[in-house]
Amino acid sequence: MSLELRSPCKVNLILNILGKRADGFHELETLMHPIPFFDSLTFAKNSAPGIQLSCSDPLLRTDESNLVYKAAKLFGRAASVDISTIIHLEKRIPMAAGLGGGSGNAATTLLGLNQLYDSVLSDAALQGLAAELGSDVPFFLQSCPAIGLGRGEQIHQLSPYPILEGCWIILVHPGFGISTPWAYQQLARFPEARNGIPGRAAKLDASLRSGNWTAITENIYNSLEAPALEKYPLLELFQTFFKKAGAVATLMSGSGSTTFAITDSDKSAKRISAEFRSHFGESFWMKAMGLGF
Ligand code: C5P
Repeated sequence: MSLELRSPCKVNLILNILGKRADGFHELETLMHPIPFFDSLTFAKNSAPGIQLSCSDPLLRTDESNLVYKAAKLFGRAASVDISTIIHLEKRIPMAAGLGGGSGNAATTLLGLNQLYDSVLSDAALQGLAAELGSDVPFFLQSCPAIGLGRGEQIHQLSPYPILEGCWIILVHPGFGISTPWAYQQLARFPEARNGIPGRAAKLDASLRSGNWTAITENIYNSLEAPALEKYPLLELFQTFFKKAGAVATLMSGSGSTTFAITDSDKSAKRISAEFRSHFGESFWMKAMGLGF
């Protein structure tokens, strides 16, 4: 039996860091929105024991350091099964991009193996494993927009936002990645960004719910832009361009390096994408898609 699952990505419409914790992580509130752009994972039981992982991208290691491998190993241990599975990862989402591609792959591996092994683990058990694998992994066990609290792993599902139906999102990756640990470490130099005022994620949720674009634009925010835009001014140029070109909102996602821009229609997304290419050239990775699933 083999199983193919799509592994989506996300953007953070807000990432508000509230302070550094004693365990070294940062307390935060974030509002993550799923994006219908996917890697794909194929799972097949194998006669030989162990985990055999392959990947379409030769730059991604397929050994024990790979999050898919870690997820499969953790699943086997928690479910008390000897994993004998061939897993193939077809990679399309850029890496170190702030889009949660690797976290999504890890969550999809937990879901895929649980399907392959007769749903041996409960949803709560999967949640626990996901949180162990990384702060963003629990978000990808479900498919709704959600608020993440704690270090991001405490997920509170939200219903879809009517105002975003019909909206499009443009993603631009500049060709370099930003390391998540680096971005968080740099916050020590930006006390205001490190110690955000709590309640901003709820405020953004309320403005998205009320459908008021002025309030939405005022409330989207990412604390990690402070170090990222200082080191990479190009990312600020992207945002200035998108604002001028008529995007309704633009921000860096997660710890970067992807910039996203939301447009009110497919037509404006296509126009703005074409203008972006003629302004910045053809070399940047860019995708545009509808925000509805
Ligand atoms: O949880 P995850 O493995 O994605 O975190 C990667 C790194 O990002 C952590 O080791 C930590 O340096 C930083 N981080 C943090 N606070 C968070 C999430 C991540 O400091 N809430």
